[in-house]
Amino acid sequence: MRTTVLIIAVILMVIPSVITGQNDGSKIYADKCSSCHANDGSGSTTRGKAMKVPDLRSSEIAKKTDKQLIDGFSKPAAHRGMQKQLGDENLRLVVKGLRGFKK
Ligand code: HEC
Repeated sequence: MRTTVLIIAVILMVIPSVITGQNDGSKIYADKCSSCHANDGSGSTTRGKAMKVPDLRSSEIAKKTDKQLIDGFSKPAAHRGMQKQLGDENLRLVVKGLRGFKK
């Protein structure tokens, strides 16, 4: 009986962290985007500079709606296959997260 209660308690503690882990756009960004776009969105990585990635903190990006960014995401050749790999929900989260970048 005691162990059952303990097991349930542990499960209840673990579940929220699993859910927030999946919903964290910044984690996806660090994992999938920062190699080109840099941790701060500036695009100042070696790869980013070579590919001339846009500064994600720029007013051009800020002007676009989330929908425009998501719809346009698959256009650059550099993003090929990523939308499928991420899934629409994760892409939406990561695009939302881009709004947090400040110069
Ligand atoms: C392999 C390098 C690479 C990776 C990885 C990458 N990008 Fe890009 N990204 C680019 C390049 C290059 C451009 C510019 C393409 C162009 O202007 O044709 C770009 C452009 C963009 C733009 C501007 C699009 C617009 O509408 O102006 C956004 C937003 C963006 N990337 C977000 C992301 C996000 C979010 C991820 C991660 C899920 C990501 N990128 C991963 C290389 C990359």
